[in-house]
Amino acid sequence: MSRVPYVGLQIAASGSRVSAADIVACVVHEVSSGRLAPGGRLPPVRVLEKQLGLSKNTAAAAYDELMARGIVIGREREGVFIAAARSSFEATAIEPPPLPELSAPALPRAVRPGSLSLSEVFIDPALLPTAKLAECARSVLHRPGLASHYDAQGYPPLRSAIAARLSARGLDVTADEIVITTGSQQSLDIVARSLTRRVVAIESPGYALGKRLFESLQLEVVGLRLDPFAPIDLEQWERQLASHRPALASLITSFHNPTGYSYSSADMLAVLELCRRHQVAILEDDWGSDMLSDGEYRPMLRHYGGKNVLYINSFTKKLLPSLRLGFVVAHPKLVPALLAMKRLSTLGNPWLTEALVAEFLERGYYDGHLAMLQRELDHRYAACLDTLNALMPQDVRWTTPGGGPILWLELPRRVDLGALRAWTVARGVEIGDSDHAFVGEPHLHGFRIGYAFHSAERLRHGLAVLADGIAALSTA
Ligand SMILES: Cc1ncc(COP(=O)(O)O)c(C=O)c1O
Repeated sequence: MSRVPYVGLQIAASGSRVSAADIVACVVHEVSSGRLAPGGRLPPVRVLEKQLGLSKNTAAAAYDELMARGIVIGREREGVFIAAARSSFEATAIEPPPLPELSAPALPRAVRPGSLSLSEVFIDPALLPTAKLAECARSVLHRPGLASHYDAQGYPPLRSAIAARLSARGLDVTADEIVITTGSQQSLDIVARSLTRRVVAIESPGYALGKRLFESLQLEVVGLRLDPFAPIDLEQWERQLASHRPALASLITSFHNPTGYSYSSADMLAVLELCRRHQVAILEDDWGSDMLSDGEYRPMLRHYGGKNVLYINSFTKKLLPSLRLGFVVAHPKLVPALLAMKRLSTLGNPWLTEALVAEFLERGYYDGHLAMLQRELDHRYAACLDTLNALMPQDVRWTTPGGGPILWLELPRRVDLGALRAWTVARGVEIGDSDHAFVGEPHLHGFRIGYAFHSAERLRHGLAVLADGIAALSTA
C-alpha cells in the first residue's frame, strides 16, 4: 500500500532523553502553532523509536495520550494522523511555490511518427552492426575494473584506438589529446562554454542544432555565407571575420550539413590563411570525411593546420545513434579546460559504452562495417540522383556530394516552401525547415535530402510526392 509521507518532527528532550511527555508537548505545540495541519501523518512509532533511541513503548504511550486528547487519530493500517478540526482529513492547501521561469530554445520540429522524413541525417538502422555490437557488449560486461571506475577524459583504450586510427590517416594525435564526449554535440558544447571571447563563426547555412547551442550559451553567432553551387565567397568571410572578430570558426569541411558541400584542398588552405590573418581559431566538425567508398577519406583542415585545429568527430551516425559517442581532439594546452568543463557538465560519461566501442575498434570490425555501409550508401545515392533526374523539373538543382548521407535540393523561388511542406505533410512526407540553419535571412531556397536512412524504394516514393507537390504548387 502506498502511504503519504509522514511529517518531520523536531523533538527536544526536557531531560537526558526524550520522554513520552516531550513527544506530546512537541505535537501539541506544532498543532497549536498551525505548523502541523489536519490530515498530516505522524512518524510511525517504530521510526520514532529507532531515530530517537527510545525505550520500547515510549512513543506508543505518547501517541495514546495524543489520541485520548483528540489531537491525533489512528487509522487502521495507515498510521496516526493529526485530527481534523473539521470532518476532513485532507491536508490544508498551502500556497505552492512558483515554478522557475525557463526559456526553451526554438528547435527544428521533430518528425511526426509514421511519416517519411526526406531530410533525415541518420543512417538506416538496418545497416548498423547491432549483432557485432551485442557481441562486444557481452565481452566488455565481464571486464574487471570497468564497473567501479571512470574518468572525465574517457576510457583510455578507446582514446588510444581513436588516436591510432587518426594517426593512420596522417594526423598527429595522441590519446592524451582526446576527450570523449556524448556525441560531437557535447564536444561543441564544452568548447563553446570554455571560450573566453563569446563570438563564434559558422557556415550559413550550418548545422542548426550547433547554431542553436551556441546561441543558447549566449555566444554571438557570425554567419559565413556558403553557397554549395559556388566556390566559398572568401571576401564575404573576410569581411565577417574582420568586423566581428570571432574567437572561433566552427566549420564542417566534408559533406557539410545541410548542403553536402565539401571543401576543396584550395578552400582549406585559403580558410586557414584567412583565419590565421584574423587570429580566429578553428574547430573542424568532421562528421563525414570517412563516409566515402573504397576505404578513401577526404582531406581535413587538421591535415593542413596541424594541432592548433580543434577536431571533432563521432560514432553516432556511422555506428549506432544511441551510443551517443563522439570526441574532441585538442591541443595539449586546451585539454585541461575542456576536461574541467566536461567534468562540470557530466563528471564523466559511461565507460561501459566507451569500452564497447573500443572493443569494436580493437576487433577490427569498424573498417569492415564502414566499407559495407558505404557500398550501400553509394547505391542509395545513385538511386537518389536517378530519381531526382527523372522527376524534378528543369529549374530544380541539387548538390552532388558523392559521400556522406545528404544533399541539398534547391527549388525555384516560385515554389513557396511553407506551402510545399504543408502539401507533402498532408501526404505523409516531411521536408526539413532549413530556416533554422541560416544566420540571418536565408540566401538559399531549399532543404536537405537524406538518402541514407530510407531504402531506395521508399526514398523514391517520398521524392515522387515531393515532385508532385512542386508541380501542383508551380501551376497554382
Ligand atoms: C555536422 C554535425 N555536427 C555535429 C552533430 C552532432 O552529432 P552527434 O552528437 O550525434 O555526434 C551533427 C548531428 O547531426 C551534425 O550534423
